Amino acid sequence: MSLPAAADLPREYSAEELLDCGPYAEPLIAGDVRCHGGFDADGRYRSPRTLHRAPAIRAWQAGLERDGHALLAIDPKLMPPQYPNVEQAGLLLREGVRDPVVRRLTIIAIVEGFGAIIRDVRVPDLGSQLVEPIEGTVLAHLRKGLFEAHARDEAGYRDEGGHKQMWEAARDLALESPKIPGDVLMRMMGQGPGRRGARKRAFPRIDPDLEILLATMAQVLAVEVFAMGAFDWGERLLSDPEVSAAPDAAGAMVGYIRSDESPHVEYLRTALSEVAARTLRTVDGATLPGREVVHGLLHRNLRGLTRERREEQRGDIRQSLVDSMQVHRDPKGLLERFDALETPWTPPERTGFESSGPSGPADSAEGGAAAEAG
Ligand SMILES: [Fe+2]
Ligand SMILES: [Fe+2]
Repeated sequence: MSLPAAADLPREYSAEELLDCGPYAEPLIAGDVRCHGGFDADGRYRSPRTLHRAPAIRAWQAGLERDGHALLAIDPKLMPPQYPNVEQAGLLLREGVRDPVVRRLTIIAIVEGFGAIIRDVRVPDLGSQLVEPIEGTVLAHLRKGLFEAHARDEAGYRDEGGHKQMWEAARDLALESPKIPGDVLMRMMGQGPGRRGARKRAFPRIDPDLEILLATMAQVLAVEVFAMGAFDWGERLLSDPEVSAAPDAAGAMVGYIRSDESPHVEYLRTALSEVAARTLRTVDGATLPGREVVHGLLHRNLRGLTRERREEQRGDIRQSLVDSMQVHRDPKGLLERFDALETPWTPPERTGFESSGPSGPADSAEGGAAAEAG
């Protein structure tokens, strides 16, 4: 990523600035809901709350770089393929089996709405938990607008729709307001982390609130990166005039959502990189390299998402797929054609974050229902 003059940008912002959208020439209307974001005078879409947030993130990244620290990144190769993939979903729609695609799009919308929980994450006093100062960093702005902006982007704010409403609109445009299966939410609740019990602490030597904050940011970052696959899937599928009733409008809507996600990935990976570049104080008065904790949490999360969690999700989806195909005149033949289109995939051996010491209970999968979208 090129950082044009980012080093000269200010690195201190108020919450009001980080939540500021600036003016739009035209608002974004999705279905009949006024949504966030809007269009400039040239008709280009501008994401919400990025007037200062976007340059601020560039400035914080430049600060990290200037201090000689790396910006961590999740390898996109870790992202499992979508199931059903675009070709499989297209086949189902052309054959009149609409339930699995309606279900998938509805789940994405619901999970986007769940994103609002980021505003409830407790941020302990990082100034005392970290040895090095945090002025002029993402870490100093999590509670000063960044978590709030993220929550508003995902779930909407006041009478303005966010990603939840935008996905619903894309679905309803493309599939002409389909009937939503009544058990979507119920099935989602039967999945996810609840079925494995409470998460075990990976780093009991650090403050519990600090561990929850870092684990949540690691988890949400992985979810945001993996969601890019789901969004690419949605954009390609809903832009296909063979299966979509509104290929331009529905495809464009998903495109707007995708561009809004970029600041989420960027501030989260910057925040985690800032912690990785610092030293954490332990509850017993010693210290721990931040890198060990951040990389350990990311490793544990990515292993879970690419292995156990993926198999579980695939199993859940497959059962409901086979059920949905019963409306077809030849369910067995359709299932064979469907399976022949499957994308083969083996998770990479390494997550890229295993190098730094104890990785904690690496086999516990996390992410849960939130592993669906960003
Ligand atoms: Fe989102
Ligand atoms: Fe997001």
